Amino acid sequence: MKIIMLGAPGAGKGTQAKMISEKYGLPHVSTGDIFRANIKNGTELGMEAKKYMDQGQLVPDELTVKILLDRVAQEDCKNGYVLDGFPRTIPQAEVLENALKELNDNVDFAINVDVPDENIINRMGGRRACVNCGATYHLQYAPTKVEGICDKCGNELILRDDDKPETVKNRLDVYHKQTQPLIDFYNERGILKEVDGTVSMNEVFNSIVSILG
Ligand code: AP5
Ligand code: MG
Ligand code: ZN
Repeated sequence: MKIIMLGAPGAGKGTQAKMISEKYGLPHVSTGDIFRANIKNGTELGMEAKKYMDQGQLVPDELTVKILLDRVAQEDCKNGYVLDGFPRTIPQAEVLENALKELNDNVDFAINVDVPDENIINRMGGRRACVNCGATYHLQYAPTKVEGICDKCGNELILRDDDKPETVKNRLDVYHKQTQPLIDFYNERGILKEVDGTVSMNEVFNSIVSILG
């Protein structure tokens, strides 16, 4: 099963992708997590991506597409995956579609986690992330057992550089201009599923499970 998570920054794509990954045994592939791991390790790719990410802009398609195609060509992705944060532009969606076509394959579901902009800013300020294992928390909605420490791996949590309010506004603008058109793209292909992302994480997940079966 191949699943794409769509939705604004902070809509809960990562949160839901992890839950799907655990329940269905599919790898969770997040381009944002891949970039952040590269930034943390000081790679050339990380340095390049950081320039865009800190501004709330998209990393150029050339860079992003190559990374994603390499990742999904790995052995663990053979039976499917959950894509979180990719595609984010129509050209990225076309590259993925063509790459899958060559393998006589296609995406099964594009799940749009719908959350209005007003709710987003509030969520971002409270988010805390673990750069070591990719876990995500929220001071209010998903607190850790010990404040500031990852429940899963014990690493110290960070507030992402791009979660400052000004940058969040840019990310929302970029989302509406460049990523929202993907909703129509996948609707035309008959695989778009909409879920209300404003309810609790478990309720959102229940709606997703009823779609995936
Ligand atoms: P990326 O890491 O993908 O960030 P994003 O899309 O902006 O999304 P977020 O990770 O911020 O939000 P999310 O939807 O995953 O929400 P989460 O589950 O954490 O990308 C970062 C940057 O990398 C981009 O800006 C770009 O520069 C670059 N990039 C990445 N992919 C790219 C691509 N394909 N092309 C070009 N550039 C790319 O939830 C948010 C918070 O809310 C958490 O604290 C969570 O605990 C909480 N929460 C979640 N669900 C609920 C709920 N139901 N109720 C209450 N709280 C909730
Ligand atoms: Mg995310
Ligand atoms: Zn961790």
